[in-house]
Amino acid sequence: MIIAIDGTASSGKGTLARRIAEHYGLPHLDTGLLYRAVGQRMLDFGLDLSERANAIDIARAFAPSWLEDRRLRSAEAGTAASRIAIIPEVRTALRDFQVLFSRRPGGAVLDGRDIGTVIAPHAEAKIWVDAAPEVRAERRWRELNGNGDPISQAEVLAALIARDERDAPNMIRASDALLLDTSKLDIDATVRAALDLVESRRPA
Ligand code: DC
Repeated sequence: MIIAIDGTASSGKGTLARRIAEHYGLPHLDTGLLYRAVGQRMLDFGLDLSERANAIDIARAFAPSWLEDRRLRSAEAGTAASRIAIIPEVRTALRDFQVLFSRRPGGAVLDGRDIGTVIAPHAEAKIWVDAAPEVRAERRWRELNGNGDPISQAEVLAALIARDERDAPNMIRASDALLLDTSKLDIDATVRAALDLVESRRPA
């Protein structure tokens, strides 16, 4: 069974995907990490993020070991990711790895922006996770502060809104996805609602 979890930045989709994967004992891929890995390499090589040709070359050389870099969770890597993710050739270069992952025997859980539409349009269960920008910004701010980043909540909100705008063209909600607004839900309630959906779509 393929479970596709898409949604906005800091909506809680990553945590939800991890919990669902644990519940079913399925492998999980956070597809944002692929874009973050390409963005991080651009930063490491001192390359301008608007240099499309460099981003495309890096994406075409993608290796799974890049995903183990702890720095990929940083705000800088996230911003860099959203800038190179708008390049169609970068998306194409990173597609096969995601599609292959989704086809693992027994199934898989993938989270991202276009899993239910581009990567695994035939996924049995699709969930679209969102929350109000202020709620997402506060969650992200707590996380960054916890990691010692002195960034202000207003800065996080501004960056999040800019990210939403950049991600919009590739942030595609499948018509058959269940909408989960996590603005007022804690993670346990979110997981319960998501599991109800997955169970209802589970092949007999
Ligand atoms: O989910 P995240 O914050 O780790 O994603 C980082 C960026 O990568 C996000 O701004 C948009 C891009 N992305 C994408 O375009 N498609 C995906 N499937 C996952 C992420």
